[in-house]
Order: sequence, then structure tokens, then C-alpha cells
Amino acid sequence: MKKSTRTLTHTFKSIAKFATAASILTASFNVFAEPVEIKFSHVVAENTPKGQMALKFKELIEQRLPGEYIVNVFPNSQLFGDNNELAALLLNDVQFVAPSLSKFERYTKKLQIFDLPFLFEDMDAVDRFQQSESGQKLLNAMNRKGIVGLGYLHNGMKQFSANDPLNLPKDANGKKFRIMASDVIAAQFDAVGAIPVKKPFSEVFTLLQTRAIDGQENTWSNTYSMKFYEVQSHITESNHGVLDYMVVTSNTFWKGLPADKRAVFKSSLDEAIALGNKIASEKGNEDKQAILDSNRSQLVTLTPEARQQWVNAMKPVWAKFEDQIGRDMIDAAQAANTK
Ligand code: LMR
Repeated sequence: MKKSTRTLTHTFKSIAKFATAASILTASFNVFAEPVEIKFSHVVAENTPKGQMALKFKELIEQRLPGEYIVNVFPNSQLFGDNNELAALLLNDVQFVAPSLSKFERYTKKLQIFDLPFLFEDMDAVDRFQQSESGQKLLNAMNRKGIVGLGYLHNGMKQFSANDPLNLPKDANGKKFRIMASDVIAAQFDAVGAIPVKKPFSEVFTLLQTRAIDGQENTWSNTYSMKFYEVQSHITESNHGVLDYMVVTSNTFWKGLPADKRAVFKSSLDEAIALGNKIASEKGNEDKQAILDSNRSQLVTLTPEARQQWVNAMKPVWAKFEDQIGRDMIDAAQAANTK
């Protein structure tokens, strides 16, 4: 072998040895590297569809990407509450949140569709709309603001509660109701002469208990898990609107994930959402029954005529928001009421 060839072979062998040593070193660094912490913050209790969904997501990620990621779930507004969770997401202080669809108003007006009173007949209609082309399009409504919608999660239909029976719209006149930060929901209460008060979820129990407000609207699950029924004498089974969620992350975090890991995050989230939705449909009835069994709060059942009065009073709200939401979207949502 010529000297120059021998030198070249020697150089290649040295490079190969160096590369092997480097990869062993990298591998051992990876073995000892701390898993990346992912934070999932939400405002409800753990025994709710959202609480259970978040825990399932944690379980799946830690099972499928062991040692690489750890998911810490912060329930009950422990880390961030209604007023700051989306801002925190954009600062990458938290990587996943799942606010109610009513809480995105600052970032898009399009999701206001979900707050229109008496639009959806039941949760099946909500589901059909969310899975339709129009519904899926709304997941991207905040992309330009840096927010990526990853999927919808159900909670359920909303009921009114108060310290007096609410049978007819006139019964709500002059009463103060806590609402989520949504102008559509504010208009819904204005329409019956009530006084809407925008407050974070974490404050609702105390506001009701101290009688700073007279009532609120929420799902059976939230009313039960937050014990609102203990400080409200009556719950009207109105099913007048939907309280669902969008699980979101930030564009920066999502695009920063390696493609193969992102796929695992997405499929794990889809599975966790499927579990959350199953719990939502079971829990609605269970929590309603638990509230009734407690005898702390009385159920007000509306006659079809009485319910129609609420519809007549509140439905004009649609026209006020039609330009912002889009007539085509409202039509698509209405179409979802028929199978
Ligand atoms: C509320 O503020 O009443 C709900 O959006 C809370 C929640 O996340 O279910």
C-alpha cells in the first residue's frame, strides 16, 4: 500500500472511531438528560371531562416517549386562570391549555358561534358541527395569533342556576349572573333584562356564596364539581347553550417539536380527547343525579311553552353577532341539528 493511501485509511479509521465515541457520548448524555417538562394548565377539578382528559394525555405521553417528556398537569387554576392562561401559552410558560370556546374572544370572533343561545339542539348536533368542514376550519381561526387548535373537547349543555326559580325570562330580570368573558353571553343575559358580570371561573363559588351575584350558567359537571349547587337554591334545566373546549398550544412550541414527536403528541391528544368526550357524555347525567340526590338545589323543569319564551327572548342575539361570525357558519351549525 502506498504511503499516501495508508495515511488516508488511517485518517478514515480515526474519524470513524471519533464518530463512534461521539455517538456513545451523545447516547449516554441522552440517557442522563432530564426529560423536557410540558405543562398543561386548566381551571376545573380533576373529576371532570377536562381534568380526566389532561391526566390521560400525561399518561400516554409518558408511556410513549419515556424519559423524553414529562407532562405536569395543573388543575383548578393552580398555575394560570381564565385571565392569563392564553397569554401564558403565547409566552411558552405553559404548553397546553383547553379554555372554554367562550374564552377566545380576544383572539378570534369566529368562535362566538358556540355561544349563540339555543343554536344547538343537543351535544350530538354540537359534535356533528365540530367534526364538519366548517367546524374543523375553526380550529385554525387563531393561527395568525400564534395559537394552534388541536381538537375540540366536550363538557355539555349549560343550565341556569339562581337563588330563585327561573321559570320564565322575566324571572331573570334585574338579577346578576356571572358569565364567562364573552360578549355574546353578555348579550344573552341583557336580552332578558338581567345583569351579566364577567368573572373568572375560580371566583364563582365565592361570588355565589356571598350573594355578590344571584346566579350563573354552567354544565352539570361544573355545577357539581365546583359545588355551585350548594349555594344556589334552583337549577333550571334549560339546555340553552353549549360549554365545550378547544385544546390549544402555541405555534412556537408545536412547530418546535420534531415531526415524529409531534405525531405522538397529536395521536395521544386525540385518544385523551376521545376518553374525555366519553366521560362528558356519562358524567352529565351522573352529576345531575348527584345534585338532585343532595337535595341542596331544586330542579326547575321548563314546559315547552315556557322554554319557547326563553328562545323568543334570547334568539335575537344571533342577528347582533351575525356579521362577526358569518351567516355561512350559522347555517352550517343549524344544519348540524338534523342528522
Ligand atoms: C367556566 O368558566 O364556567 C367554564 O369555562 C370553566 C371550564 O373550564 O369548564
